[in-house]
Amino acid sequence: MSKSSGNVFRKLMNPFFVSTGDSESKLEELVAEERKSFSIETLISATRNFDQSLLLGEGGFGPVFKGRLRDGREIAVKRLSKRSTQGKKEFQSEAKSLTRLQHRNVVNLLGYCVHGGERLLVYEYVLNESLDKLLFKSNGGDLLDWKRRRDVIVGIAKGLLYLHDEAPVTVIHRDIKASNILLDDKWCPKIADFGMSRFFFGDETHVSTRIVGTYGYLAPEYFKNAHLSPKVDVYSFGVVVLELISGQKNSSFDRDPGFHNLLEWAHDLFLKHRSWEIVDPVLASSADRDEVEICVHVGLLCVQSDRDLRPAMRRVVDLLARKRSHVSSHLERPARPGYSDSGYWPKFPVSGSTSRSSESENQKTTQNSARSKRQHRGNGETEE
Ligand SMILES: Nc1ncnc2c1ncn2[C@@H]1O[C@H](COP(=O)(O)OP(=O)(O)O)[C@@H](O)[C@H]1O
Ligand SMILES: [Mg+2]
Repeated sequence: MSKSSGNVFRKLMNPFFVSTGDSESKLEELVAEERKSFSIETLISATRNFDQSLLLGEGGFGPVFKGRLRDGREIAVKRLSKRSTQGKKEFQSEAKSLTRLQHRNVVNLLGYCVHGGERLLVYEYVLNESLDKLLFKSNGGDLLDWKRRRDVIVGIAKGLLYLHDEAPVTVIHRDIKASNILLDDKWCPKIADFGMSRFFFGDETHVSTRIVGTYGYLAPEYFKNAHLSPKVDVYSFGVVVLELISGQKNSSFDRDPGFHNLLEWAHDLFLKHRSWEIVDPVLASSADRDEVEICVHVGLLCVQSDRDLRPAMRRVVDLLARKRSHVSSHLERPARPGYSDSGYWPKFPVSGSTSRSSESENQKTTQNSARSKRQHRGNGETEE
């Protein structure tokens, strides 16, 4: 609950208030709790009983429907697949963590619903399509001019900084990619789809864990050794940055037959001081050379093979805010992107991939169950 709504609540309750801070926060918590939980009847009515005509998208964790609440608010309701065996408590605790996240670059989870076997998540509705649909579509580039793309880069960076460092719980998203970035009516990017995220309540943010994510966006150390840290998101962010600049999908790169992927190609051009050639041809008239150079440089720093060399999101946000003259001469040269020495995708053998129907063959979300003893959770996921 925000401070101001807390105060309104306090005023209403004033005659009954026992003054200690503790009881005040308990009451606030109770009220907040109420707001987060939606009844199934509300969601059935909002989505006209999950009418197929209101389907926004469908992926590995279930369909997403557009809906309208009685107060007029538009929502997106994610109906989690019934195959999921995630317990009620576990689901509620994850959903509650998500409702505590509040940032302009993170999609707002309004609440959730548990009813019998049903598990539903209720988000604010985000008007424009997900980034991939615009970026990789033939005429999408026209809508995304350089200013919008740069704003998207900066917005995602700020959203990730919040998730890693500033949110009430530390969140590693684990599936940062163009299709999980939604754009609102003002083209402001919102990080979405926390189905793969890990929440950390203490300081521990370096762990070994089950591997989930999407080909083309997976950090090599995570793919190879299951080492999870915020640098996994930094890597995926770097891939998205280079995709935004070039209009090319890393997993189906075809601009230059001499290179296997976008990262290798971009790195090569950077070293030859030809970063400008990475730019999507449709941006030729709108792009600012200095800004492009900084973004390419930052993108390449983020995808470096050695995770210790990758900048943290705070530094990324800081670098993106600077003028080129203050950046390029002082900035370290990016080492090789994380690919060949680790047997980088696409040659990597993967087992246990899920088939999320919204993903192309090359971009399937992967859950590598090859390592150590992991149990199936029953929803296609594997866990240590
Ligand atoms: N809050 C939202 N507003 C508008 N569209 C949404 C929203 N959330 C999801 N969608 C649509 O549904 C698709 C799938 O949602 P997502 O959360 O990525 O689930 P998954 O990838 O697990 O199926 C998105 O790519 C987007 O097109
Ligand atoms: Mg998704």
